Amino acid sequence: PYGYEEWPKLSLESFKLGRELNLRSIKVGSINYDFEPSNIVITGMGGSGIVGDIVRDSLWGHNIIIHKDFNIPKWVDSRSLVVAVSYSGETLETICGALDALRRGVPVVGVTTGGRLASELEGRGAPVVKVPKAIAPRFGLPNLLYAVLGLLSHYLTIPEIDESISVQGDALRSELPGRLASFLKGYVPMIFAPIGLQAVAYRFKNDLNENSKTPAVVAIVPEADHNDIVAVMLKHPVKYIIIRGRTDDVHDYLMRAVEEVVKNYSSDVEVVELKGSSRLSQEVYGSMLLGLVSVKLAELYGIDPVRTDPINTLKEKIR
Ligand code: F6R
Repeated sequence: PYGYEEWPKLSLESFKLGRELNLRSIKVGSINYDFEPSNIVITGMGGSGIVGDIVRDSLWGHNIIIHKDFNIPKWVDSRSLVVAVSYSGETLETICGALDALRRGVPVVGVTTGGRLASELEGRGAPVVKVPKAIAPRFGLPNLLYAVLGLLSHYLTIPEIDESISVQGDALRSELPGRLASFLKGYVPMIFAPIGLQAVAYRFKNDLNENSKTPAVVAIVPEADHNDIVAVMLKHPVKYIIIRGRTDDVHDYLMRAVEEVVKNYSSDVEVVELKGSSRLSQEVYGSMLLGLVSVKLAELYGIDPVRTDPINTLKEKIR
């Protein structure tokens, strides 16, 4: 449902779309795209913005900065590459940020289905990857994510692309989503995750907000060890989800400790084990698996996962 079974195919196709753009041959006035960026700024909001979070976690060790606002920071200059991601191409923050950066001489590339972002960038000669449409931005995650990875492959090595696509089949076949949705019904989910896989927790929160119309709390370890964890002392209408993945020994150890402490206080705990050897695979697996949880939870609430009326109302107001 909602196109999840198309993800593997779309992932592969979208990677090719990004890869096939001959980015290094592009020049926009004095802006030259054939360079080694000292940092990569990924800008976008909501279902498009989460792409940046996943890329940052997946390509950890590289200088990747996430920006979710209008104006790109002043220090971003011609040594940076800005990737502006907007599914609709109509998001004001992303359009303003991209055009502001281009005006300042920063190489900008757009990833979108079209809209104003595409026309404004193309009108100035800047490159744009046009990805296929989905039911809503968040359901188009593979389209946007893999196009960005394809683009970045002109500058960096992207690890484990094939594995990140093959684990999607495991998520599709899992029986966890139905069980987890029943577990969460009527409660506020509190999601613990290690910092190196934080995008999965945020993606799950966003899917719970948008698909299941439910609030959710994200608690990122190790910072959560110093605050969020104390909330387990009282009985709140909360259910705990622990995202268990593999990043490094220290963080794997910390997550086991968190799991023990939470379980000491509460029996309302479910552990979600991420599959895959790389951070990219684990995050893509988790995004699909937990996305399925959020649409199943919407079904249990008898609501339409696709509608996000308050977002539309807000966008109308700031148009
Ligand atoms: C996700 C969703 C929103 C949008 C966000 C930005 O499905 O509907 O989070 O992603 O409002 O819009 P776009 O992605 O079109 O730039």
